[in-house]
Amino acid sequence: MVDARTPKASTTLHTPVLLQEVIELLSVQPNDVIVDGTVGGGGHMSALLERLGPDGRYIAMDADATALDRVRARIGQDPRVSYVCGNFRHMTRHLTELDVEAADKILLDLGLSSDQLEGESGRGFSFTSDDPLRMTLRAHTDEGELTAWHVVNEWDETSLADIIYGFGGETRARKVARVIRERREEQPIASARELAELIEAALGRRGKRHPATRTFQAIRMAVNDELGALTEGLEAAKRLVRNGGRIAVITFHGLEDRIVKQAFREWARQGEGTVLTKHPIPSSRDEVLANPRARSAKLRCFEKASTQ
Ligand SMILES: C[S@@+](CC[C@H](N)C(=O)[O-])C[C@H]1O[C@@H](n2cnc3c(N)ncnc32)[C@H](O)[C@@H]1O
Repeated sequence: MVDARTPKASTTLHTPVLLQEVIELLSVQPNDVIVDGTVGGGGHMSALLERLGPDGRYIAMDADATALDRVRARIGQDPRVSYVCGNFRHMTRHLTELDVEAADKILLDLGLSSDQLEGESGRGFSFTSDDPLRMTLRAHTDEGELTAWHVVNEWDETSLADIIYGFGGETRARKVARVIRERREEQPIASARELAELIEAALGRRGKRHPATRTFQAIRMAVNDELGALTEGLEAAKRLVRNGGRIAVITFHGLEDRIVKQAFREWARQGEGTVLTKHPIPSSRDEVLANPRARSAKLRCFEKASTQ
């Protein structure tokens, strides 16, 4: 059933975070080649396209074909734009297929969009959905591909507790892993709602956040190998960005931010360029009030040296 939070095919529920800060740091020039590795709802894309001239180029990439379809319908025909359905960890291959050898600006805005979290993804990202447990970034999964169902119903209790604590920061991870194991011994856990209700019954409600938030985040990060993709995506971005070009990354998780911080620092130490953000840029209070999702956002930016 389509609920009130489900966007129409060509609209988005997503509000881009740190938009002004991204615009300033990327400092788009009319002829730039921009790679947007996480186009999502296309909010950053719309603003950056406005600053691009007729000879500029915009590569709009997302692992989720549904997100790309939505953006394509919203932006309409634009000869400057190429849409790519793929993971940014394979950015080099995708750009080669488009005959793009280098980029001037690269943007990665990590995690999921509100369309995926709050809309009808059909993949079990939302606590209240009866979707099967998939949680994959890709809209379609191949047979044998890792999904949340496998993690929840097949991983041993210790591995489950380790990711729920390590990726989710859930201090009661052992308890969550134990109730999952006990339930699945009776019958497999089939839907997102069932998993969320099980966790809520075990942990109880404290504060505004749903008690399953951390567990869902951890499972999603494991299913999509999100930290591995980030590490590979950053390396690919560094190779692809032109001298004097910039890479901007927005993270929503401490582990992601640490990977970006360490990569940028290491590149600067090796003389490959300059970190433009000495400290990560957080969202302003006003932005968080207007868009609570921006709460944990941090923006970092690296500029590759002009000559090497
Ligand atoms: C936070 S949203 C981006 C929002 C976008 N900047 C906007 O303004 O609307 C993140 C998007 O990145 C995609 N994504 C996450 N990890 C990805 C990856 N490794 N490769 C490609 N896309 C990815 C998700 O499917 C999602 O659509």
